[in-house]
Amino acid sequence: MKKTSWLLLISIFAICLLAAYGGTLGQSGSKTMIRFLALGGFFLLCISLMLGPLAVLLPRIFADLLESRRAIGISAAIFIALHFMLAMMLYFGWNFDNVLGNFSLLIVVPAMIFLIPLTFTSSDWAIKKMGMKNWKLLQYLAYPLFILAFAHFLLEASGPAFLPPPFPAYNIAEAKMVGLGIITIILQIAGFATRRKRASKK
Ligand code: HEM
Repeated sequence: MKKTSWLLLISIFAICLLAAYGGTLGQSGSKTMIRFLALGGFFLLCISLMLGPLAVLLPRIFADLLESRRAIGISAAIFIALHFMLAMMLYFGWNFDNVLGNFSLLIVVPAMIFLIPLTFTSSDWAIKKMGMKNWKLLQYLAYPLFILAFAHFLLEASGPAFLPPPFPAYNIAEAKMVGLGIITIILQIAGFATRRKRASKK
């Protein structure tokens, strides 16, 4: 099997685990679905952001996987869009005042807006139309998107606790996704530092 197929297999397995674990928490159907889509979307967002720095740090292992990055990013956008739509429909009845009056939801509105151009320019056609330089500039939106989404996640996650107070009441899936988010940030910093070091040597 090719490395890209392994990545697909592992990602689907992880998403199935998130779904199965969510089903064990005894929450309502709508809550379970909204949270599953949220965690699945966040997971895929992390994977899409990890592949770039991993390809810089360990090119022999990860360079082949860069091709899958756009498909994973689009999959993340699909999960997140469904998470947003279900939350708007089932929790807020499409009343945006509720979103704008809640800090943890308000901060993620720009992230949702950034997601739109990022998703719709994920094609070779868009790169050709925009030019590589402009396209790369647009891709920088992924960083504030990720930081805002991570902050929203940390504020919203409150599944049944497995840690005693004063720790936040994250469940096992949430805690693992928080860990993945932190690893994503560390890899981004390491990838950036390595690229700068290599560029200064040239
Ligand atoms: C980039 C965009 C977004 C990402 C990555 C994201 C991700 C997440 C994550 C990971 C959680 C925690 C799930 C859990 O703990 O199981 C969450 C919760 C939540 N999100 Fe989002 N979200 C995004 C945008 C939005 C937007 C725009 C809204 C506005 C309606 C929203 C509404 C909610 C609500 C209401 C919860 C709490 C769900 C509950 O406790 O039942 N999210 N989100």
